[in-house]
Amino acid sequence: MNRQFKIAGLVILLILGSALLLTAAGLNNVSDDLERLGMHLYQDKNLSLYKNQSCQTCHHPLAGFADRSNFLHPYDKVVSLGSDGVSMGGRNAPTSAYAGYSPIRYQDENGEWFGGMFWDGRMDGSKLGDPLAEQAQGPPLNPVEMAMPSIEAVMEVIQASSYYPLWKKVFGPITNLDAAWNNFAVAVAAYERSADVTKFTSKYDLAQDQFTAAEDRGLALFEAHCSACHATTAANGSPEALFTTYGYANIGVPANPVVPAPDYGLGEDVNDPDQNGKFKIPTLRNIAVTAPYSHNGGFPTLYDMVSFINDSSGVTPDVVENITPLVGNLGLTEAEIDDLIAFLHTLTDEY
Ligand code: HEC
Ligand code: HEC
Repeated sequence: MNRQFKIAGLVILLILGSALLLTAAGLNNVSDDLERLGMHLYQDKNLSLYKNQSCQTCHHPLAGFADRSNFLHPYDKVVSLGSDGVSMGGRNAPTSAYAGYSPIRYQDENGEWFGGMFWDGRMDGSKLGDPLAEQAQGPPLNPVEMAMPSIEAVMEVIQASSYYPLWKKVFGPITNLDAAWNNFAVAVAAYERSADVTKFTSKYDLAQDQFTAAEDRGLALFEAHCSACHATTAANGSPEALFTTYGYANIGVPANPVVPAPDYGLGEDVNDPDQNGKFKIPTLRNIAVTAPYSHNGGFPTLYDMVSFINDSSGVTPDVVENITPLVGNLGLTEAEIDDLIAFLHTLTDEY
C-alpha cells in the first residue's frame, strides 16, 4: 500500500514536473539570460509614465509584433496611442521582428540608401553600432510613446523590479546611467533577435513542399513583380529570405487624412530632396497579421494594399517626387492578386 502510494506520488510529480517544463518551454524560446532579461524589459509596463504601456503594447506577438489594437481595428485605428492615452505618433507601427537584420545605414555607390531603423531610417546605428539596439532607447523617453521623464526614472523602475537580480547577473549592479542605458538597449535587441520574436517558423520556411497551387502561383508572381525590393534570397547573415533589401522607395502612397502630411520620410532625415517620399522597404514576414498597411496605415487590408501596388492610377500620391516605376502599373488580374495574397499568408510564423 505504502509503496504503491509512493509510486503514484512519484508518477504525479513526474507529470506535474514535465507539464511545468513544457509550459516554460512553450512560453518562450529565449535561450540565455541576456535574451530573458530583454524579454522582461520588452514586456514591462512599469517602464511607461502611467504604467500602462510596454514595447509589447505596440509590437505584440499576436499581431506579428506590430500594434495589436490597430490590427483589430484597421479601419479606424492606424497609429499607436501613447502612454497618456491621447498622444498619437504620425506613423503606423511596423513589426519589431526581423528588424535586427537591418544594417547600419549606408549609401551605396549609386547613391541609394540602405539600412537603419524606422520607416525613414533615422535611427541609423551610428551611435551604438547596432540600429536595433539604438532604436530601443527611443520609445521609453518619447512623449507620444512610453513618456518616461528621464533615464534615471527608467533605471529606478528596473532597480525596483522582480528581474533586477537577473539584470545584476548579466550586467552587474546599475552604477553608471549611460552604461546602464546602453545595456538596456543591448538586452532588448537581444530579445528581439531571439527565436521568440524572429522565429523563421512560417509555412514558407518549414513546408514549401506543402504549398497549394494558389500559393505556388503567388510565389512565382512575387518573384516576378515584388522580389526586386522584397528580396526572396537570404542576406545579412539571415538563415532565410527577409522579404526586404532594407533599401528605400517611394511607391506613391496617398496621404492619410488622420496623420500629418506631407511626410517626406528618408528625404527629410538625410536632407536630400532626391530622397523625398522614400520609406524603408518593409519585411513582409507576418504581413497577414500586421494590418493596417504602409507607413501611414492608410490601407486597412492586404487586398487594398496589393491592389494599390498593382494599379495606382487615379490615386494622388502624398509625395509626387521620386516615385518608383517598378510598381503601380503591373496589370495583374484579380485572380493573380488573390494568388499573391495566398502566398503572403504563407509568411506568418507559427507559435
Ligand atoms: C506607442 C506605441 C509604441 C511603443 C510603446 C513602442 N513602439 Fe516601436 N514603433 C512604433 C511606431 C509608430 C514605429 C514607427 C515609427 C517611425 O517609423 O517613425 C515603431 C518602430 C519600431 C521599430 C522599427 C522597425 C523597423 O523595421 O524600422 C522597432 C524595432 C521598434 N519600434 C521596437 C520597439 C521597442 C523595443 C519598444 C520598447 C522599448 C517600442 N518599439 C515601443 C510604436 C511603438
Ligand atoms: C520598388 C520597390 C518595391 C516593389 C517592387 C514592391 N514593393 Fe511593396 N513596398 C515597398 C515600399 C517602399 C513599401 C512601404 C511604402 C510606404 O509605406 O510608403 C512597400 C509596402 C508594401 C506592403 C505593406 C507593408 C507594411 O508593413 O505595411 C505590402 C503588403 C507590399 N509592399 C507588398 C508588395 C507586393 C505584393 C509587391 C509585388 C506585387 C510589392 N510589394 C512590390 C517597395 C516595393
